[in-house]
Amino acid sequence: MNMERLNSHGFVLLENNRWLKYRDNLIQMMLNDFEGKISRLEDLHSVLRKDEVNDFRLRQMIKINNDQETINTYLEPFWDDLKPILGPDCLRQKRINLVIHMPGDESSIIPTHSDVKTGNSSFEIGLWLPLTECLEGNTMTILPYEHFCRGEWDQSVPVLTDGKDSLLFKHFLPHGNQVNNTNQTRISLNIRFKSLFAPENKKNILDYYTTWKISEFSKIALAHWIN
Ligand SMILES: [Fe+2]
Repeated sequence: MNMERLNSHGFVLLENNRWLKYRDNLIQMMLNDFEGKISRLEDLHSVLRKDEVNDFRLRQMIKINNDQETINTYLEPFWDDLKPILGPDCLRQKRINLVIHMPGDESSIIPTHSDVKTGNSSFEIGLWLPLTECLEGNTMTILPYEHFCRGEWDQSVPVLTDGKDSLLFKHFLPHGNQVNNTNQTRISLNIRFKSLFAPENKKNILDYYTTWKISEFSKIALAHWIN
């Protein structure tokens, strides 16, 4: 992982081959709902109406988030990248979010925003995991840190990937999406991480986060501190 680029640019695309088999599992889990009618999630809009998409999204999120151990397994490939950024003691967001962005669906537009303004800690880092190809007309846009520093709010760029890359980003950076003007649905997961010892913002630490990694040293020190 290119730490220098993360620091200067605010986000970095990662190639992580160990993640891809878990990504395939998630794609297959969602495709199974359609009994072979589609073979890729980019075609989701051909089997799902706009008024059905949120129910489908919530069903998938329940399936994913009901199995916290599997989430830990799926995230393990990213620990080598996250540990140098956050340190050895790490919380993760308890519930992974799922975004489904179907062509022409104005209800799935997420206006440009900073998660810090909605209660997330600026000490968090976001991991964005696409399950489909991400094109200029259907992907997330983000304002690079160098433009953020200069107040150049109209310089957001699209995150382009064949879907096999993942993205680490400082999620205080403004990000969002526009109406999907392609003929492909875009689906992505996102989750946030924070050092156990970094300040939270407005999210309830016991409800919003769960412990993901804790060092032996911290385990012993915390036990001593509590007693
Ligand atoms: Fe956000």
